[in-house]
Amino acid sequence: MSTPTRIVIDTDPGIDDALAIMLALASPELEVLALTTVGGNTGLGNTTENALRLLHLLGRDDILVGAGADVPLVRRDSRPDEATHGADGLGGVRLEPAPRGADARGAVEMLVDVIEGSDRPVTLVALGPLTNVAALVAARPDVAARLERIVLMGGGARVLGNMTPAAEFNIWFDPEAAARVFAAGVPITMVGLDVTHQATTAPGDWDALRTDDAGPVARAVLGMVDHYTRFYLETVGTELTAQHDSLAVAVVVRPDLVTTRPAYVDVEYTGALTRGMTVVDLDDVAKHSPTADVALEVDAAAFGELLVSRVVELDRSLR
Ligand code: BDR
Ligand code: CA
Repeated sequence: MSTPTRIVIDTDPGIDDALAIMLALASPELEVLALTTVGGNTGLGNTTENALRLLHLLGRDDILVGAGADVPLVRRDSRPDEATHGADGLGGVRLEPAPRGADARGAVEMLVDVIEGSDRPVTLVALGPLTNVAALVAARPDVAARLERIVLMGGGARVLGNMTPAAEFNIWFDPEAAARVFAAGVPITMVGLDVTHQATTAPGDWDALRTDDAGPVARAVLGMVDHYTRFYLETVGTELTAQHDSLAVAVVVRPDLVTTRPAYVDVEYTGALTRGMTVVDLDDVAKHSPTADVALEVDAAAFGELLVSRVVELDRSLR
């Protein structure tokens, strides 16, 4: 096996974030250096507590956790996505408290230390609103420039919105931050709704975990998946749930899972109807230099197999 890719994960757990974190920790292709948390699916207090408890559940209290921004840079009418993820962010699944709190350094200071302290480039996987990432880029552009790349779950090129008809949740939540990140000059892979809406799992995919002697990891996964499935059934009328954030992690594990196209991407943050929309110049109409590699197609079957098999292995290894 070649040297693992070093990653930091900026996240707002969040059910699909939690599964994405599990996928990352279960993947020998990755070395997870730190988690940083942001307000999004639920408030920062919950996302930080959820990150700490998830790591404790998975026996990884050694991984740094830094708390970041609770509110967006500018926008003041963003609201958590409680319908999708529950008021606590994990669909009501109760996890054991962790024996520690977040690191005294905040998210940005921690990111700076971790990126500067690594003797090889680090990939930043961003699974929530881009507030912390924008703060890093603003505070320390020299450190951001050392990143291998940013792989972010957010936006859409042809499939535009899940929060509004024009906007995906993470970009909608903090569009000013997203605009600054896309303009930062750091290589970006954008994993948006074009591909994440196809990156689904069905309840039956998790049957390997539904045993009489299910351990705490299996119980947590099934509890979250059940909540997420109920939400999808009620709102979309399907049992297939989009594993948005896991696809972003999977793209680092196996880049061949998606086909990307370089394109200029900007973010609309003033439009009354389109605030939070990613404007993706797929046909190079404006003749700007590309700012991101935009994922347009996905091998959804291979992704689903990777996610479920890795999470099942993780559960077995912790029994
Ligand atoms: C994104 O928004 C959140 O609900 C999910 O965690 C994911 O990061 C999908 O639009
Ligand atoms: Ca998320």
